[in-house]
Amino acid sequence: MEQIDIHTDFAVDVLSGLSAKQKFLSSKYFYDEKGSKIFQDIMQMPEYYLTDCELEIFKNSQQEILDAFSENNASFDLVELGAGDGIKTKILLSHFLSQKAKFKYSPIDISEDSVVNLVAELNHDLPELKVNGLIGDYFDLMKKIIPNGYTKKIILVLGSNIGNYNEQMSLEFLGKLKDVLYPQDMLFIGFDMKKDPDVILKAYNDPHGHTTAFNLNLLQRINDELNADFNLENFYHKEEYNPQTGTASSFLISKIEQHITINEFSTTIQFTKGERIFMEISQKYDLDIINELALKSGFEVVRNFFDERLYFTNSLWKLKS
Ligand code: AVI
Repeated sequence: MEQIDIHTDFAVDVLSGLSAKQKFLSSKYFYDEKGSKIFQDIMQMPEYYLTDCELEIFKNSQQEILDAFSENNASFDLVELGAGDGIKTKILLSHFLSQKAKFKYSPIDISEDSVVNLVAELNHDLPELKVNGLIGDYFDLMKKIIPNGYTKKIILVLGSNIGNYNEQMSLEFLGKLKDVLYPQDMLFIGFDMKKDPDVILKAYNDPHGHTTAFNLNLLQRINDELNADFNLENFYHKEEYNPQTGTASSFLISKIEQHITINEFSTTIQFTKGERIFMEISQKYDLDIINELALKSGFEVVRNFFDERLYFTNSLWKLKS
C-alpha cells in the first residue's frame, strides 16, 4: 500500500474537510502567493466597502487614534497580525511619524510575499520608520517579541479578519492573545458591522469575479500541492447572509455530478450536482456582540472609532482590570 503523506496540516485538513458529510475547506489556506494577490484585488473593488470604511476611519481619526495609543508621547510597539499589503496601516504610520511619535512597527503575516513586499515598500516610502517584518504563526512570533513587557504593545487586527473565525475560534484566538499581553498593552481590532444585507452580499457575490477566483484558487492549490484533478470550471461560488446571526457564508457548488481524485492520498471524492463545499464565514457584528466578545475573552472596550455610515468599527480594547 502506498504510504499516505500526512506531514502537513494542509494535507490533513483538506482530506478531513472533503471527506466530511458536509464538505468544508479552511479559508486560512486561501492565502498562498496567488490567493494573497487576489485578495488585494478584492480589497480594491468598490463593492468591498470594508477597505474604504477602514481607510476613512484612519484618515478622519488618525490623531485621536494616536492619542488613544500613546498618552504623553510614550513609546509603543505596533504589532500587526495579518498585515497583508498594509496600505491602510500606512496612513496611520505616516501620521504617527509626522507627529514624532516614538514607535516601532512589526507586521506579521503567514504570507512571505506580503511581508517581504510590505517591508520593502515601507523602507522606500517611510525611510524613518523602524520596521521589523515577521513571517509565520502569530502566536509563535508574538511569544518571541512580547517578552519585553516594558514597552506598551498595541496589537492591530484590522480588516475584520476576526470575522473569518466562528465564535469559539474567536474566543480561543482572543484568549491566546490575552495570555501574551501585559496589563498596559492594547488591542485595536476591526469589525464589520451588520447592515443592509444587499450591501453585504454585493461585497462577496461581486460582479468582477475576484471572490470566485479567490475561492477557486484553493481548489487549484489542492491540485498543485496534493496532485488532485479538480476542474475549476465545474464549480461556482455563492455567498449567503443571515441577518439574524450576522453570518455571511461562502460556498463552492458543484455544477455537475463528478468525482475528484486526490493522488496524494489515492482517494476519490464524490460530488453530487449542487453539492456544496463550505469555504468561509465573514461574521458581521453589532455593539452588543463586540462588548460581549471583549468581556468573554478577558478584555474591555475602551472606545470605538466609526466611519460616517457606521458600516465598520475599529474597536480599542484593554485587558479587563
Ligand atoms: C480577510 N477577510 C476579512 C475577508 C472577509 O471579508 O471575510 C476575506 C474575504 N473573503 C471574501 N472576500 C473577502
